[in-house]
Amino acid sequence: MTITQYRSQWQGPELRAAARHLGRRRFLTLTAAAAALAFAVDLPAAGAAAAATLDAARIDVFPFTLGVASGDPLPDSVVLWTRLAPAPYQPDGGLPAQPVDVDWEMAQDESFAVPVAQGTATAHPEFHHTVHVEVQGLDAGRVYYYRFRAGAWLSPTGRTRTAPAAGAAAPALTFAAVSCQAYTDGYFTAHRHLSEDDVDLVFHLGDYIYEYAVDAAGGARKYTDRALPALFDHETGTLEDYRLRYALYRTDADLQAAHAMHPFVVTWDDHETENNYAGSIPENAVPPDQFLIRRAAAYRAYWENQPLRMPQLPVGPDAQLYRRLFWGRLAQFDVLDTRQYRSDQAYGDGKHIPGPESEDPARTMTGAAQEAWLLDGWKASTARWNVVPQQVCFAQRKMDLNTVAEVSMDAWDGYPASRRRVLDGAKAAGVENLMVLSGDVHVAYAFDIKDDFDDPASRTLGTEIVATSIASGQNGTERPSNWATYTTANPHLKFYDGRRGYVTVSLTDARARADFKTVPYVTTPGAPLSTAASFVTEAGAPGLRRV
Ligand SMILES: [Fe+2]
Repeated sequence: MTITQYRSQWQGPELRAAARHLGRRRFLTLTAAAAALAFAVDLPAAGAAAAATLDAARIDVFPFTLGVASGDPLPDSVVLWTRLAPAPYQPDGGLPAQPVDVDWEMAQDESFAVPVAQGTATAHPEFHHTVHVEVQGLDAGRVYYYRFRAGAWLSPTGRTRTAPAAGAAAPALTFAAVSCQAYTDGYFTAHRHLSEDDVDLVFHLGDYIYEYAVDAAGGARKYTDRALPALFDHETGTLEDYRLRYALYRTDADLQAAHAMHPFVVTWDDHETENNYAGSIPENAVPPDQFLIRRAAAYRAYWENQPLRMPQLPVGPDAQLYRRLFWGRLAQFDVLDTRQYRSDQAYGDGKHIPGPESEDPARTMTGAAQEAWLLDGWKASTARWNVVPQQVCFAQRKMDLNTVAEVSMDAWDGYPASRRRVLDGAKAAGVENLMVLSGDVHVAYAFDIKDDFDDPASRTLGTEIVATSIASGQNGTERPSNWATYTTANPHLKFYDGRRGYVTVSLTDARARADFKTVPYVTTPGAPLSTAASFVTEAGAPGLRRV
């Protein structure tokens, strides 16, 4: 079966007609979209003979064109990732629809003189020849090096690390938070600097890809030394489209460098699927059944192309992306998914003053199951810092100086009852050192999280650190035109910078320190990095202080 035939089955009128008659959403979720996905990825039917393995010695072009990555470190385990793609901009990646054996090895040193683990994994055509290895039995709190081999080809070397032992005192942790890397808005220079920065871990908070068309010149990158193929020049909709988009992004050398040097913990926002979707409701007037088929394709391609474990593998249009990680006793990370289960945006999305529609207590940002999981996790937490890597702005963000100001209906401001339940849960659990990490808005913010955002004298419950974009928004400016309005309207907003970059956070038992790092331009390569501002918040006494 050819890719074109996959596509026609994937989007076939019979399938859409069948889906429309199914009625109940869960039934649709678990059957029609899953069946569509099975067609699309050509999963072998039960009892069918699998394709013969391709001898890797027959791969005559370098296949590690997308680099290597690692992620989700545990005290004894880490996920290693790569993909075989001799021709990454072709739908089949330049390989036949056959499995390929890929050897991997891990060592204590960069020269692989002290090996600690090795094995062989299969790059399945059903997973687009991606490789996910969950290495077990590693020592806690160590740096490791890894690489892959297919036939005569050796991959670049990656560096990763394991988390400290469960419950162990961990002296310090420095992590980075990044978000929003629209390829067409500029170069990933911030990733290049991040690759050289001394961090233990990177959180990617979403908008890893954008679904919009990419022209031959790569948009604002204005390539003159290459022309991107026309197959990128339309909005992603099919599994093939999404897979190709990850291939485009992962051929970026700066992004590859960041992945090779640091383990990533990733979560998605909207653009990995479609701008501002909410659960099963798309941005535009497309029936939810059709949108769920698109969501299944987007989620599948995301899993394939990220260093994620098997529990995160989607089933049709559903994926368990929210998950919990620990850094000894120092930090608990509750990684959220605020897209898959949320209620539709109130007042048709955009910005709007709060009202009965947005304030409906039945509305949810997390879904009931994820909310209960978060609050239960906090009750059980023994960590010094409870960090919540997630997507959209958590703190109140008034956008004008009116008493009742407009706020974003896509952020937590559009789901105030959901935010109230989360904050009440944090208080009830005795979470003292709450830190929320956010992305989405393409600017850097630092917020005090107030018990009542409308009362500056109310208790400060934690800190929100908003990572600016890697590229989205093009060059940006230090003080956007609404800077004075936002800082006046929101006294709990302690920092606002509109340039590209990333943020690092260093945790110790005593305090957290955030360093907002920025590059002055992205539409041409090679910008230098500088630190725009630094803040600390003391353990047990939340509240940001500029240093
Ligand atoms: Fe974004």
